[in-house]
Amino acid sequence: MSSNIEIFRTRRQLCEWRASIDQGAAVAKKPVTIGFVPTMGALHRGHAELLKQVRPRCDVSVLSIFVNPTQFGPNEDLAKYPRTFEADLEVARTHGVNVVFAPGPDEMYRAAHSTFVVESKIAGPLCGQFRPGHFRGVTTIVAKLFNLVRPQLALFGLKDAQQFFVLHQMAQDLDMAVSVEAIVTVREPDGLALSSRNAYLSQTNRQIAPKFFGILTATSNALKVGTPVATALETGRAALAASGFKVQYLDCVELPGFGTPHTILPEHAYLIAGAVYLGETRLIDNIIVNPAVLTRAGYKFS
Ligand code: PAF
Repeated sequence: MSSNIEIFRTRRQLCEWRASIDQGAAVAKKPVTIGFVPTMGALHRGHAELLKQVRPRCDVSVLSIFVNPTQFGPNEDLAKYPRTFEADLEVARTHGVNVVFAPGPDEMYRAAHSTFVVESKIAGPLCGQFRPGHFRGVTTIVAKLFNLVRPQLALFGLKDAQQFFVLHQMAQDLDMAVSVEAIVTVREPDGLALSSRNAYLSQTNRQIAPKFFGILTATSNALKVGTPVATALETGRAALAASGFKVQYLDCVELPGFGTPHTILPEHAYLIAGAVYLGETRLIDNIIVNPAVLTRAGYKFS
């Protein structure tokens, strides 16, 4: 499937287009629904799944491609983050995207930029401990993108589960008129979660990488049969280290509030999440225990 795609590089172009959508809707006396997938590009099958799922649910689909400098720490991979714009456009076309918004950094952050959006609870543990300022960068750019695109639906991948819960909280707390929803993690046949950073893995490390999800699964199974949380996590960390990973963290939080659990209860949901290094490459992955509890509470996953 192929479609005519509009590519905007500036906020002004995007806003003019967005105003024309409102005008068209007013003339037709029919609302136009906009579905949005924010990305940093280097699109893989996980992003393709987001685009595939957003398309039939809305009249118009918008993809943003912006490698957001404010979510990278000083020693992180901003400069070497993969940039594959032409290939990304092909993915967008294949999935019937109507609009691609691909601004440069100076377009999104004027020299005088001094306002940031901070989620102050969920953003604290897990990745928040090791990437200071990361979620502040994510919430700030996504709030800006939501203001420009004004979508009714925004889809995110659950590989970045903490990001999803932070953004869901932000949208609720700030009364943003957008439904923030998630899709389940897309994996390679061997279990490795798709990520733009997988491209950095050496051949040897690519063989080791799927063990991460295997160990998360074993940890989740241990917790479900009543193993104390601290014991299950210690066993998981030791198994990761023995497989060749450098463990940044392996932890379990209660969902959706990200509190620390001592026991696992069937009527609560939990996130078991980890970040590990293989060489220089940082991988994250997670498993949600009892996701139906969240669905009943109004969270939307597909
Ligand atoms: O998940 C990502 O690619 C980014 O964190 C996001 C949500 C596009 C914000 O820059």
